[in-house]
Amino acid sequence: MTAVLVDDTLETRRLACQPTALAGRDGDLRIIRAFLDRVSVGGAALLMTGDPGVGKSALLDAAHEMAMIAGVRVLRAAGVQFEADVSFSGLNQVLLPLGQELVQLSTTHENALKMALGLSVGPPPDRLVVSNAALAVLRQAAADRPLLVILDDLPWLDQASSLVVGFVARRLAGCRVGLLAASRTGAATIFGGSGLPQHDVRPLGSEAAADLVDARFPELAPGVRQRILTEAQGNPLALLELPAALSDLQRCAVAALPAILPLSRRLGALFTSRVSDLPAASRYLLMLAALEGTGDLAVVQAAGAGQREADGLAPAEQAGLVHVEEDTGRLAFCHPLIRSAVLQLSVNEELRRAHRALAAQFGDQPERRAWHLASAALGPDEEVAGLLTRAARNMLRRGDAADAVAALLRSAQLSPRSGDRSLRLAEAACVSATVTGELPQARQLLADARQAMPDLDRSLHASVASAHLLLNSDGDINAVYGRLVSAIRETARPYDASDPALMAWLHTMLTVCSFGERPEL
Ligand SMILES: Nc1ncnc2c1ncn2[C@@H]1O[C@H](COP(=O)(O)OP(=O)(O)OP(=O)(O)O)[C@@H](O)[C@H]1O
Ligand SMILES: [Mg+2]
Repeated sequence: MTAVLVDDTLETRRLACQPTALAGRDGDLRIIRAFLDRVSVGGAALLMTGDPGVGKSALLDAAHEMAMIAGVRVLRAAGVQFEADVSFSGLNQVLLPLGQELVQLSTTHENALKMALGLSVGPPPDRLVVSNAALAVLRQAAADRPLLVILDDLPWLDQASSLVVGFVARRLAGCRVGLLAASRTGAATIFGGSGLPQHDVRPLGSEAAADLVDARFPELAPGVRQRILTEAQGNPLALLELPAALSDLQRCAVAALPAILPLSRRLGALFTSRVSDLPAASRYLLMLAALEGTGDLAVVQAAGAGQREADGLAPAEQAGLVHVEEDTGRLAFCHPLIRSAVLQLSVNEELRRAHRALAAQFGDQPERRAWHLASAALGPDEEVAGLLTRAARNMLRRGDAADAVAALLRSAQLSPRSGDRSLRLAEAACVSATVTGELPQARQLLADARQAMPDLDRSLHASVASAHLLLNSDGDINAVYGRLVSAIRETARPYDASDPALMAWLHTMLTVCSFGERPEL
C-alpha cells in the first residue's frame, strides 16, 4: 500500500484551475480553518471520518488549498488498497520531498529513515527509532514555515507507516506540524481509540444536495430529480453519479426509470465488498429483500425458506447493510444504494430464481405476482404477458399511469405474437398520450407498434393516441376525425360501456368535435 504523492507546485496549478466551491460545506470548512490556525501556532492532528463518497477527499482538497494560501507547506499522500502490504511505502511518499531536511538529522535518525524508506540497505531499523526520526524530520521541515501532512484513505496505509504516523500524531504539540487524515467511518485506523480529535463529515443537507444536482444536471425532469435526491440521501458521490448513469432519455423522463437505479462503477464499489463478503444464503436473502421492495420480512423469509445455510440475515445486519425498524418491524436497507449494489452483484439466473420465489408468495396480489413472473421470464410468454396487461389496467384504474405504461411495455416485450405486441404498445402509447401527457414517448411507442402492424390505427388505443398527437401538432381535424371513426367501426359490438379504451375514444371524439366546430362532425 502506498501513497500517491501530490507535488506542491503541480497541485498549486491543479487547484488554481479547479472551482473550489463545495456545496453545503461551510461548517466543515470552518472546522478546517480553525484546525489550520492551531497548526500554525503549535501543531495539531485531525481525522475526518464519513461514509464512502460523502466528500472527505474533496474536503482534503479544500484544506490543501486553504493551507497553501495561508503559506503552509503541504505534503500529501493517500493509501492505496493494493499496496497496503508494502512496508513503509506510505511514509516513503510523505517524506521523499524532504531530502534536504533528511541530511540535517542525527546520523542514527538519518540512517534509520533512509533504511525504512528504501534509500539505503542494511538490517531492518528499529521502529521506535524510525518513528522518532520521522518526527524529527517533520519538525525540521517546519522550522521556517508551518507544515501540513495530508493523508487520505488512512486505513489503506501500510501497517509500518501507520504505526509511525500514529506515533507522530500524538507528538505534534509545539512543532507547527499538522496532520490531517481521512478515513471511512468504521474502518480500523491507527487513530481509532487514540483520543485524537475526529470530525464526522455528514451527508449534505437537502438544500445543498438539490443545489448540487441542479448545478450539474439542469436538464433533469422534476420526477427524476426528486428520485435522485431521495436515493442519494445527501451523498455527493451518489448525487453526481446516479444521474450520470442514466440515459439521456431517462434524464428527461422520456424513458421510464428502472425500479432500481443503475450504479456507476465507483458508486457500486462503495458497497460491493461488504455484500460479496456475506455467506451465500445471506446474500440471497438480501437479494430477495431488494427485489421484494417493501421490507416485508415474513415474505422475504418465506421466499428464502429452504436455503441450505442457516445464517439468515444476521451477517448482513452485522455488516451494516440492513436493519429491522423497531417501530414497524420492517426490513430496511441502511442506504438506498445498497439495494442497487446487491442487485448489481447478482447473476441473472439467481435473480430469476428469486423472482420466481417471490411470485409464489404473491398468489393473492396479482400485480406483484405478474411483475415478479415477468422478471423471472427468460423469453416471450403469453400467459405472463396477459397477466401483466391486466395488472397494468388495474394500475390505471388506481391512477398509477406511469407504472401502467411500464407494465404494458414489459407485457409487449413478452408477447410471443407480433400483433399482440403492437396492440400492447399502442395501449401504452394511449396512456402516455392521454394520461401522463408524455407525447414524445407516445409518438415513439406508436411508431414501434406500427412497424409490425401497419393497419394499427384501426385499434381504439392507437387511434386515440395518434389523435392526441395530431391535435398537439396542428393536425388536420378532419384526418383525426376520420381515424377515430374508422377505429370505432372496426370495434367489435356490442360495445362494453366500462371498457377504458372505449371511454378514452369517446373523450377524444368529443374533444375533436368541439375543436372542429362543425355541426356535421
Ligand atoms: N460538497 C461537495 N460539493 C460538490 N461536490 C462534492 C462535494 N463533496 C464531494 N463532492 C464530489 O463528490 C465526489 C465524491 O467525493 P469524495 O471523493 O471527496 O468522497 P470521499 O468521502 O473521499 O469518498 P471515499 O470514501 O470513496 O474516499 C467527488 O467527485 C467530489 O468532487
Ligand atoms: Mg476519498
